Amino acid sequence: MIGFRPHRHMTLCIDQTYYGFVPYTYFPGDDGVYAIEAGEAIIYQVQNLAHNTFCALKVAKPSHRSEHIARATEIAAAYKHVAGLFLGNRTCLTKTSHPQLIAEYPDLEYAVLMPWLAGRTWASFMFDGASSARYTRAQAYGLAVATVRVLWNLEASHLAHTDIAGGNVMLSPDLTQVELLDIEGLYTHGATMPKLRSQGSPGYQHRNLDHRGQWRPDGDRFAAAILLTEMLTWANPYVRALTPDNAESLFQPKELQASTTRRLDAVRRALAEICPPALALFDQAWASVDLSQCPDFSTWAWTLIQANKL
Ligand SMILES: Nc1ncnc2c1ncn2[C@@H]1O[C@H](COP(=O)(O)OP(=O)(O)O)[C@@H](O)[C@H]1O
Ligand SMILES: [Mg+2]
Repeated sequence: MIGFRPHRHMTLCIDQTYYGFVPYTYFPGDDGVYAIEAGEAIIYQVQNLAHNTFCALKVAKPSHRSEHIARATEIAAAYKHVAGLFLGNRTCLTKTSHPQLIAEYPDLEYAVLMPWLAGRTWASFMFDGASSARYTRAQAYGLAVATVRVLWNLEASHLAHTDIAGGNVMLSPDLTQVELLDIEGLYTHGATMPKLRSQGSPGYQHRNLDHRGQWRPDGDRFAAAILLTEMLTWANPYVRALTPDNAESLFQPKELQASTTRRLDAVRRALAEICPPALALFDQAWASVDLSQCPDFSTWAWTLIQANKL
C-alpha cells in the first residue's frame, strides 16, 4: 500500500522545478490524476510547469524501495546515450539528494522522475485486437530489427535489462523504434548484485534460473527470444486467433519450453514462413537448459538483418 495520494491541485518542487499532476477523471466530480498501477510501482504522469513537458514519476511500492534503485540510476545515467536507454535520463529521489521532499512525502523515497514517452507498450499493442489486425509483416520485421538493435547495443556495452517483457518495451507510434522501460534492474559488469533480482515476467521466464535470476550478462536472452518471436509472428492471423483475447504475451507461463502445443506449432510455422533462419534461434532458446545456451544478440541481429535483405 502506498500512502502517497496526489490530487490534481498538488505540485511538487524537484530541483527548483515545479511539477503538477495531470488530471484524469474516472467519475464526474472526482479530482483523480493520471496514474498507472503496475506490479512494483505506481507511475504518475506529471507536467513540468515551466516547460509544459510531460514526465513520469515512478513511485515504488514499499516492498520494492531500496538503495539499488539509486545505484541503477547512476549506472543508467552513464549509458543514457545507448540506443533504447533514453530513460537513463532520470532523477532518483533519496533522503540525501532531496531531503525536504522526502521529509514531506516519505513515500517518494527512491521514486524516479524521468521523461514521459509517448507511445504504447508491446503488451498493450498485442492486447489491442484492432491494431493487431492491421499489423503487417513489414512492420513486424521493422519492429523486430529495431528491438534486436537495442538488445545488441546493450550486449556490446556489457549490459542487460534483466526484465525484457512486452510491458517493458515502448514502441514509437509508427512502430519503427523501441525504448526500454523499467530499467531499475539494469545489470552491468562488475556491479554489486542487488537483493531483489528480476526473475523475469510471466510469459518470458526460463524454467531454469539460478540464484542470480536474470541479473547476469546473458539475462535477456531467453525473454528476448520470446519477445522477438512475438513481434515477428503476431502479423500472422492464425497465431493471433490461437492466442486468448486478453493475452499480453504469446505464451502462457506453463506453456514455456513445453514439448508441443498447438500454439507452439503455429508459432513455429509462422516464424518459418516470415523468417526461416530465425526458427533455428527460437528453437535453440526454447530447448536451452539454461540462459547461457540461448543465442546471443549479435547472432539474432545478423540473422534478422540478413533475412530482411532477401
Ligand atoms: N517513462 C514512461 N513514459 C510513459 N509510460 C511509462 C513510463 N514508465 C512507465 N510507463 C508505463 O507504466 C507501465 C509500468 O511501468 P514499469 O516501469 O514497467 O513498472 P513495473 O516496474 O511495476 O513493471 C509501463 O508498462 C508503461 O505503460
Ligand atoms: Mg514493468
